[in-house]
Amino acid sequence: MPAREPSTPEDAGGFGGLRVVSFESRMASETARLVEKAGGIAISAPSMRELPLAEHPAALDFATALLAGRFDVVVFLTGVGTRLLFSAMETAHRRSTLVSALSRTTVVARGPKPVKALRELGVPVTVAVPEPNTWRELLSALDESDQATSLDGARVAVQEYGISNERLLAGLAARGATVQPVPVYRWALPADRRPLLDAIREIIARTVDVALFTSATQVHHVMTAADDADLGSELRAAFAEVVVASIGPVCTEALQASGLAADLEPSRARLGVLVRETSERAADLIDRKRSHLRASGEPRKPAAAGDPNASLFMRACRGERTERTPIWLMRQAGRYMQEYREVRARVPFIELCKNPDLAAEVTITAQERIGADAAILFSDILLILEPIGLGLEYLRGEGPSISRVVRGGGDVARLREIEPAESLHFVFDAVRAIRAGLAPDIPLVGFSGAPFTLASYAIEGGGSRNYVETKKLMYGDEGAWHAMMELLARAVGSYLRQQLECGCQAVQLFDSWVGCLSPGDYERYVLPHTRAVIGALPGGAPVIHFGTDTATLLELQIAAGAGVIGVDHRVRIGGVFERFPGVAVQGNLDPVVLMSDVDVVRARAVELLEEVDGRPGHIFNLGHGILPATPVDNVIALVDTVHEASEKRATRI
Ligand code: CP3
Repeated sequence: MPAREPSTPEDAGGFGGLRVVSFESRMASETARLVEKAGGIAISAPSMRELPLAEHPAALDFATALLAGRFDVVVFLTGVGTRLLFSAMETAHRRSTLVSALSRTTVVARGPKPVKALRELGVPVTVAVPEPNTWRELLSALDESDQATSLDGARVAVQEYGISNERLLAGLAARGATVQPVPVYRWALPADRRPLLDAIREIIARTVDVALFTSATQVHHVMTAADDADLGSELRAAFAEVVVASIGPVCTEALQASGLAADLEPSRARLGVLVRETSERAADLIDRKRSHLRASGEPRKPAAAGDPNASLFMRACRGERTERTPIWLMRQAGRYMQEYREVRARVPFIELCKNPDLAAEVTITAQERIGADAAILFSDILLILEPIGLGLEYLRGEGPSISRVVRGGGDVARLREIEPAESLHFVFDAVRAIRAGLAPDIPLVGFSGAPFTLASYAIEGGGSRNYVETKKLMYGDEGAWHAMMELLARAVGSYLRQQLECGCQAVQLFDSWVGCLSPGDYERYVLPHTRAVIGALPGGAPVIHFGTDTATLLELQIAAGAGVIGVDHRVRIGGVFERFPGVAVQGNLDPVVLMSDVDVVRARAVELLEEVDGRPGHIFNLGHGILPATPVDNVIALVDTVHEASEKRATRI
């Protein structure tokens, strides 16, 4: 990394002429004044418009159903939302009628704020949820309540403000309730989105240096406006080079959920403090974030040769057009390769994974031998299960085996939170060793199993055909399931983040077995957790979200937030590009093609490129890992063909 340049006198005391965008609406001019006072150039991009009370159809529909006696339980989640719901309902109904209809139901208030709002409105509260007022306490308060609140068969309305709490809805449904969310929003996107879109385009063009977010709603609105204009993935990538300042933890969480990372929060959640503290740190932060783009003091110079971030692979992950299609292959370091077999003859697989020098050797040898455009860390998705508390072994010829399998809530309760820097230090040592030995312009891909695939191994104990035990736990004990998935998501999130910090340029989430689920089950049991993993990663590094047999799940997988989707050979790759503009696509030659004659390999590679038809954002790969019996010459022929044929195509276009 180049050394930081000395600060110039102008930027010592404030923004020093940096361009600062704010998404404030009500406080837009106040923010602009503060930014200018701190030496910045203010750009106002209002992202919110207050909705008139009469524009709340969900509130009015709820009132009608409530008055008709169609709810047994009504849950109020927020004070602001409760008041807003009432104000909207009171445009059509008298408060006293609403209050008496509510008093015939079980009224649940999530915490002190909705309790206060309901008291002021004269609504009797049946169940007040104890601290810390999360969905968990809410469900257990209902489970323990001595009121007639059996949820089985109950009709439950849940007031939501802003975003929906999927875990709560799933927990209620799991107890047999019919759940009706009642979303109330105070804010909508502005009717005229042009100033907001202009600012988004400026961020993408890297002509903005700092972005100020002062509420979670702003984050949702900015990302929605960008996604609606097909600019979402470009915007996410651009934020990697912009200082992102967040007013506080709720806003930061919203940023993470959108795949972005906050660079700073102020010491107090006040607009003035945010602007002042951001102005003090902006120059440093921007230097750090753009260090890979800076050479000899010139800002925004295109990345230099020898920088993995400028590689074909990274550009394709960002959806950019490239001179030729990058290719790497899952399991490119594996038994099909003589050099790998020689190392393996000396050390068992698990020891190879835990020996950073040997892991680096096989990673680099494989990349160099086949001429791939990226290297993949040599490790295994299951190693993370050991520190979590499950015994792991690789039996010769039979693959992995878990000795202490998870079968119920009691087993889940015994799982351990991990500190990857300690228990998986050999992985990070390997990343550093690989980065030191790998050609500087070749990116390194880190990886982890995704929570579902890890859970399926932890529960089944090994590979599986029907995932019977996994699904039994998932359907039968939803609380235990989500607890386990949350623990895995936390572990995977910090594991991947640290791989990126140690020198990986991108990461791949292997959700290899998730294709065994229906879309409904994916949405309910998996999506929130995969989304949490991706949300925990820094915005600028590409995340490749891979699964097999996922043709019916792609929409939902994409909703988890990764910028690159990895597909197997069972889908038509052209269709994936068509359906999901703005998402980069990795795949998808059938690995068995590599067992055919070399002419067949070449012809199939060319066919696949024709199907992709020069669309930007394609990373060539197999639909699944290379099989051990594959001739290495066929693999090399594949890499060469993809390089030559795609380069020819690109010069034709
Ligand atoms: O892709 C790479 O080159 C990086 C290294 C890597 C390995 N496994 C090495 C490995 C990666 C990314 C994995 C991921 C992995 N591991 C997955 C998800 C990917 C997929 O294939 O869907 C899964 C399900 C596993 C679990 C696992 N590890 C199995 C089922 C097996 C046995 C099957 C087999 O091919 O032997 C392993 C062992 C394993 N992992 C080997 C390698 C090179 C072979 C071990 C050996 O040398 O004997």
